[in-house]
Amino acid sequence: MSVALVTGASSGIGRAFAERLARDGYDLVVVARRRGRLEELASRLRSDPGVAVEIIAADLGDPASLARVERRAGEGPDIDLLVNNAGFGAYMPFARLPPERVEQLIRVHVVATTRLARAVVPGMLERGRGTIVNVASMLAFSATIPPDPMPHRVVYAATKAYLVAFSQALAAELGSSAIKVQALCPGTVATEFHVVQGAPGPLPGSMDPADVVAASLAGLELGEVVCAPTIGRRAASRGGRERTDALHRPPIGASRLPLPGLSRAIARISGACPFLPAVGPRLARLDRRWRT
Ligand SMILES: NC(=O)c1ccc[n+]([C@@H]2O[C@H](COP(=O)([O-])OP(=O)(O)OC[C@H]3O[C@@H](n4cnc5c(N)ncnc54)[C@H](OP(=O)(O)O)[C@@H]3O)[C@@H](O)[C@H]2O)c1
Repeated sequence: MSVALVTGASSGIGRAFAERLARDGYDLVVVARRRGRLEELASRLRSDPGVAVEIIAADLGDPASLARVERRAGEGPDIDLLVNNAGFGAYMPFARLPPERVEQLIRVHVVATTRLARAVVPGMLERGRGTIVNVASMLAFSATIPPDPMPHRVVYAATKAYLVAFSQALAAELGSSAIKVQALCPGTVATEFHVVQGAPGPLPGSMDPADVVAASLAGLELGEVVCAPTIGRRAASRGGRERTDALHRPPIGASRLPLPGLSRAIARISGACPFLPAVGPRLARLDRRWRT
């Protein structure tokens, strides 16, 4: 039986990964701070579809807790799929972002992701197989765009940009092995991500987390290192979640762009990003520059 370790499995995209991977027959190691949520998830998945689920309640921003998860990831010979998904936004002007939050963003997104990947790669190399998904964000590509109506996101965007570069470099280094690495870069997704930051609910036009997971797994099949699932323009313009188009249809000319996943995102982002009509034209200009 294959084993997947999913961080941030108590909610949103991480929970959707755990549910989908359980249906696909993976045993699971699920990680997050809220033990109660993990227990509820585990008891559901143990009875239907009937897989083994191990719980690690841990704050990945805390070095001692991260070390526990790291040991579990590296010691057993069994982690076939690592989903580095835990994360949070802390959108705020840089000058007001508390220094402790700065550090937590870097610890959870950068340090934990990198160390957990470092823990599993030697075993994967030995076994000649394995997959690592690092959940980044479309905001990884937004660094030059000023805030408002986009969120204030200096450290968040920078950590997600790190995840893209880290995933690309690791994929390149492991290119001759059978290990797959992916940076998953969704637009807005209907999870608790914005709610924990004070939003009344998911943002309109958000993707369904299960569709994001389906896109990630399809991207892995296609060998995509940067996977940027976004909602289709038509669905977004209806403002609804009734038809998400998270799967893959490259725009004309996409193969000439340096990042296939990103090119799709550029083709669709104006419809995909509910809080930023301004991003679309700017990325489209960038897209045209790349095409020439
Ligand atoms: N939702 C979006 O629009 C969106 C878009 C692009 C990228 N993303 C990325 O997707 C990932 C998942 O977010 P989501 O949208 O599913 O949000 P979510 O519903 O708020 O889930 C976040 C998960 O991360 C866990 N987590 C947060 N801080 C943690 C810590 N210090 N230690 C351990 N676990 C921690 C949370 O669990 P506990 O609270 O129980 O610890 C929760 O399970 C994040 O990396 C986020 O940056 C989200």
